[in-house]
Amino acid sequence: MTYCITPLYCRPWTLNGISPRLIESHYENHYGGAIRRLNALTAEIDALDPSAVSPSVIQRLKRDELSLLNSTLLHELYFASLGGDGRSVPAPVADALERSFGSVARWRAEFTAMAQALSSESGWVVLSHLPRDGGLTHHIARDSTESVAGAIPILALDMYEHAYQLEFGANADAYIAAFMRNIDWPAVQARLQDAMNVPPPRRLEQKEFADVPALAPEELRELLDSGSPVQVIDARPRHYATRASDMMRAAVWRDPERVEEWIGELSKDTPVVVFCVYGFHIGCQTAATLRKAGFDARYLSGGHYAWKAIGGPTKLFE
Ligand SMILES: [Fe+2]
Repeated sequence: MTYCITPLYCRPWTLNGISPRLIESHYENHYGGAIRRLNALTAEIDALDPSAVSPSVIQRLKRDELSLLNSTLLHELYFASLGGDGRSVPAPVADALERSFGSVARWRAEFTAMAQALSSESGWVVLSHLPRDGGLTHHIARDSTESVAGAIPILALDMYEHAYQLEFGANADAYIAAFMRNIDWPAVQARLQDAMNVPPPRRLEQKEFADVPALAPEELRELLDSGSPVQVIDARPRHYATRASDMMRAAVWRDPERVEEWIGELSKDTPVVVFCVYGFHIGCQTAATLRKAGFDARYLSGGHYAWKAIGGPTKLFE
């Protein structure tokens, strides 16, 4: 693949305290340099015979390619982060920052502290939207290879010395303050809006049990912690359960093949949560059977192992 140059997004002459000279040098030498080297390296990799290249060479080439590609992408985002007045955060962005960080002021304090932490070394500070959880996260990338998988960056601060030394010398704090007062918030808002339209990663879908409601392990833990009455049934198959060493503390084990023998013990006035080993068929089938019999039953998504994976309390199998 050949990567094309992206024109400067911000208008350098409008920036407050960051000169066109600094932006021009940064754009031409560091962004341009990254994309030129990326294309040269990509061509070099394309010309290789993958079966004949040594593991150390392929590792080095691919690591350098990743670093140059991310440097290209982050520089584009950096230039697209500048050009505004930095102060008036639009309501949709302010709401998103508040939901994820508590308040805009808290986000600003964290973001600035991360940038200051890079003042004696190099790296990026990146704010991203994470479709998996529908919120914002920010992180330090000490080199361009560090990123959050699946996150969509919407704001980036370049803390490499080349981004500010020409004008600010070693005064990284003054540069960070200049960046913050030049953030183009409407552009950040537009990118956030685009990112929020990206669906989360596809989750496990059990079409045959689409009409059986599920409960997440975190929701069950919350119910139990709040003292809400709930009947929890461990319905792992007998052959599996007899080898099990532990089980959910709040659960009782019942044989899923003998539902008719124990269904009479349950109350129809209290919700039932039933689970199997991984949350596939048996937990769902048992919940469906109980629902047909008039119980308010749900299955626990992810089953026994999802409960253990969230650190839910267990006891010895009884
Ligand atoms: Fe840079």
